Amino acid sequence: MENNSLFSRKVIIVTGAASGIGRQIARSFHSCSGTIIGCDRDAQGLETAMGEMRARGGECHARVLDLRDAMAVNALADEVFRTFGRIDILVNCAGICSGTSIADMTEDEWDTTLAVNLKGLFFLSRAVARVLILQKSGRIINISSLAGFTGGIMSNAAYSASKAAVTCTTKNFAKYLASYNVTVNEVAPGTAQTLMSEAFLGDRLYDFVGKIPLGRLCQPSDVAAAVLFLASDSAAFITGQTLHVDGGMYT
Ligand SMILES: NC(=O)c1ccc[n+]([C@@H]2O[C@H](COP(=O)([O-])OP(=O)(O)OC[C@H]3O[C@@H](n4cnc5c(N)ncnc54)[C@H](O)[C@@H]3O)[C@@H](O)[C@H]2O)c1
Repeated sequence: MENNSLFSRKVIIVTGAASGIGRQIARSFHSCSGTIIGCDRDAQGLETAMGEMRARGGECHARVLDLRDAMAVNALADEVFRTFGRIDILVNCAGICSGTSIADMTEDEWDTTLAVNLKGLFFLSRAVARVLILQKSGRIINISSLAGFTGGIMSNAAYSASKAAVTCTTKNFAKYLASYNVTVNEVAPGTAQTLMSEAFLGDRLYDFVGKIPLGRLCQPSDVAAAVLFLASDSAAFITGQTLHVDGGMYT
């Protein structure tokens, strides 16, 4: 999918851009000449990620924010629209996960997981959708998870529930926004090799390889390729769909 001018003049917001999958999605759009607004709560990680892209030329902007803060999220969408005059693509990638079991799950961890993975996605989608409705064009791509379809194996229940809700939210937004020429789809990665999975699975991460029909872990670049396809003109008639990027796990 990489074509160095495919997303030229497109204004693209990517959340979770400091790390892992979000960082690779931002990098892939940037390689195709997109104007990137990378968002994350991790200021240092975000600056490193955006700095690396900026060094290769093109437009790349860092915006530090916590997606749970609705006012900050609204301000971001307003500021991007005022600065660039449009928003073309939103990729909701930020998320959190742990391996906490049902017996150990606290109310606070449950609430925080839902607040970041679901409510944060809602806050930014709502703010950006207001712009896309006015423009009568745009794309929203959510990063859900295989765990939202299977219930998860090592991830916690709040995570799986939040991701199943993202899938439902994707379908709802897609139906509502279709009449404004806005498509909404999601990519559901299987077990991917990132800081998130390494942090809570440790070496057990590699035990998954034997369960994956294609025989390897998902890489951030696998997810980014699917996102770029859904954001491209080739996917103009696709909405409300899940693209499973899991090496054949969910079949
Ligand atoms: N790694 C996997 O195996 C896997 C599998 C399926 C789906 N996913 C999904 O892919 C997405 C990216 O995961 P990853 O593996 O790259 O994880 P990661 O931990 O490497 O990156 C997640 C990013 O989200 C940011 N973030 C977390 N909370 C935030 C908040 N409140 N506001 C703003 N930013 C916040 C983090 O700072 C981090 O930079 C997540 O939605 C995750 O659920 C990951």
